Amino acid sequence: MEQEVNVMPRIGDQAPDFTAVTTKGKIKFSEYAKDKWVILFSHPADFTPVCTTEMSGFAQRKNEFDALNTELMGLSIDSIHSHLAWVNNVKEKTGVYFSFPIIADIDMKVSKLYGMLQPNESETAAVRAVFFIDPTKKIRLVMYYPLNVGRNMDEILRALEALQVSDANKVAMPLNWKRGDKVIVPPPVDLDGLNERLEGNYDEKIDFYLVKKDL
Ligand code: BEZ
Repeated sequence: MEQEVNVMPRIGDQAPDFTAVTTKGKIKFSEYAKDKWVILFSHPADFTPVCTTEMSGFAQRKNEFDALNTELMGLSIDSIHSHLAWVNNVKEKTGVYFSFPIIADIDMKVSKLYGMLQPNESETAAVRAVFFIDPTKKIRLVMYYPLNVGRNMDEILRALEALQVSDANKVAMPLNWKRGDKVIVPPPVDLDGLNERLEGNYDEKIDFYLVKKDL
């Protein structure tokens, strides 16, 4: 069901559904990117410098998101005409093409639904939000950045891969984890597990509660 309220969706929530006008036509979110992850992100405004660097960053690394079975979807509180002009302008000036859909959220419906409109930062522009949404359309990770600081594309990709590797292997990811690093074996939850942990051989064991292994 589509709602229209200013909420902050949280980790573990079902991603709120919406239908929106985008640069790739009208999209109903619940029908978009079936069986894929989605990175839904907002930027404050078209034709602004930080946003242009960020949008270009997403476009230039789209192949890495593709490799992680992930679709991109941008959003700002701008008209579809502004989006089309900006996409075309950046392509003409730099050769970078924003081929993923960008929502024209001129009525702020989706921004409010995802807590992207944070009035003490701006009453008219969305903050820089990133929602990591899994193939069941559950929100798995949320980032919010202010208007004046751009995001880090390496971190967005790292966190996405960490979520996927964690899910696939039932492990947790330590500080600064990146592909190839050891992962954390979840701590024991009963005495048998504790004893097994105390006696077992692991790649790295600090104590029973901090054990790492290679994948
Ligand atoms: C920017 O993308 O450069 C920007 C957008 C809105 C407010 C401040 C900076």
